[in-house]
Amino acid sequence: MASLTIRKLDDAIRDELRLRAARNGRSVEDEVRVILREAAHYPSPIPATPPAVLQAPSADRGPRAIHSLPRVTLIIGGGIAAYKALDLIRRLKERQIHVRCVLTRAAQQFVTPLSASALSNERAYTDLFDAASEFDAGHIRLGRDCDLIVVAPATADLMAKMAQGHADDLASAILLAANRPILLAPAMNPLMWNNAATRRNVAQLERDGIAMIGPNAGEMAEANEAGVGRMAEPTEIAAAAEKFLRPPQPRPLAGKRVLITAGPTHEPIDPVRYIANRSSGKQGFAIAAAAQAAGADVILVSGPVDLDDPAGVTVKHVESARDMLAQVEASLPVDIAIFAAAVADWRVDNAGEQKLKKTSAGMPPLQLVENPDILATISKLREKRPPLVIGFAAETEHLIDNAKAKFARKGCDWIVANDVSPATGVMGGDRNTVHLLTRDGGEIAVDSWPVMSKEQVATELVARIARTVEKTS
Ligand SMILES: Cc1cc2nc3c(=O)[nH]c(=O)nc-3n(C[C@H](O)[C@H](O)[C@H](O)COP(=O)(O)O)c2cc1C
Repeated sequence: MASLTIRKLDDAIRDELRLRAARNGRSVEDEVRVILREAAHYPSPIPATPPAVLQAPSADRGPRAIHSLPRVTLIIGGGIAAYKALDLIRRLKERQIHVRCVLTRAAQQFVTPLSASALSNERAYTDLFDAASEFDAGHIRLGRDCDLIVVAPATADLMAKMAQGHADDLASAILLAANRPILLAPAMNPLMWNNAATRRNVAQLERDGIAMIGPNAGEMAEANEAGVGRMAEPTEIAAAAEKFLRPPQPRPLAGKRVLITAGPTHEPIDPVRYIANRSSGKQGFAIAAAAQAAGADVILVSGPVDLDDPAGVTVKHVESARDMLAQVEASLPVDIAIFAAAVADWRVDNAGEQKLKKTSAGMPPLQLVENPDILATISKLREKRPPLVIGFAAETEHLIDNAKAKFARKGCDWIVANDVSPATGVMGGDRNTVHLLTRDGGEIAVDSWPVMSKEQVATELVARIARTVEKTS
């Protein structure tokens, strides 16, 4: 095993390491071990400073670097419901939320820092005057080095301190120095909750922009007592926290049916051979995912590709151009149709029913006939023509001129033109440079977009569609 001498590191890295180690209550050597372990588990580079922005919801809920997860500082107050805060740690973690706990002195009468630490896999904090974490003002860091502060249970006492701006222990100091949203889950006896002082404090905290979940009505821990004062259930608190951390995305295409074609087509020569092209389907799949995220009901008709079906999208897999047209027609009516597939212009008219054999007569002549033009066919429909039809023009030369000619010929509403000459790496690659052709009165308007990932092109295209749909509806 290689050994590492910390003296040989840059000053800045050494300082950062010491700081990190102190924050986490570990020795520098242990901190290095943790970093190496994280790096081995998560091959993506771990940023030195956690990103302040919240991460978008991810369909992939597999292991991710801790620093890319949304982070909660969970303050556990000294109420009987503190035991439920331990379950809350688990509920937050199963939602892929990183948790760091702070326990008040009273909370430690109900649950131990050790339990909180074991469940969160992080050091639990208890003292304002803790030399290890206070040399870099830990109380300020704990209220800022996170995306949300949750207080559960929020005792009458803690809420009174917050309303008054006290900072005489770690929890209240964090809350006073915080610049992140705060979510309180109050829990107390109904008489405490209804007491005029608590009412005043709750009203003040609401005016201060502090969010609350609960308390709920129900049985109290005290015998024969019931009323409003029970802490919200951990699953409710975790769901409320998640709404802060991963706010629901706008769904401008909700209620719209969107049809998308993607990928190449395979045109058989015989049962084992076919004519194809280099389309990967990535752009069409990205558009399908973006339309689905925008709330649309999406049908994706895809030629043979090596991609996973996008979640929440109805995918119809086809081989040839004629299959694709049949599935497109069967999917109508739709509000928006986007034809991103690279459909073969020709197919083999005399495709062999059996595998063609090599003969001394040489290569069998392949007679090519034109395939149906899916974009033109749908654009020219009298009935069931989608209100917005968008075609793709993949060109290797004279991009804009060829795209304009295609636009005039096909009868669609917009054309997305892209240069697919080999040097661009667009076919099969992850990036795309597109030009959006639309009609502006009698003229064709060309809007050239910068180089983007195919996902960004998809998001931008869907945003344009959403704006157009909003204007026309
Ligand atoms: C058994 C027991 C249960 C308690 N439960 C609660 C409670 O549910 N809510 C509350 O506001 N206070 C409760 N208290 C009172 C708090 O523990 C007390 O006000 C304490 O100072 C709160 O400290 P903290 O706000 O710093 O956590 C309870 C006290 C005891 C002894």
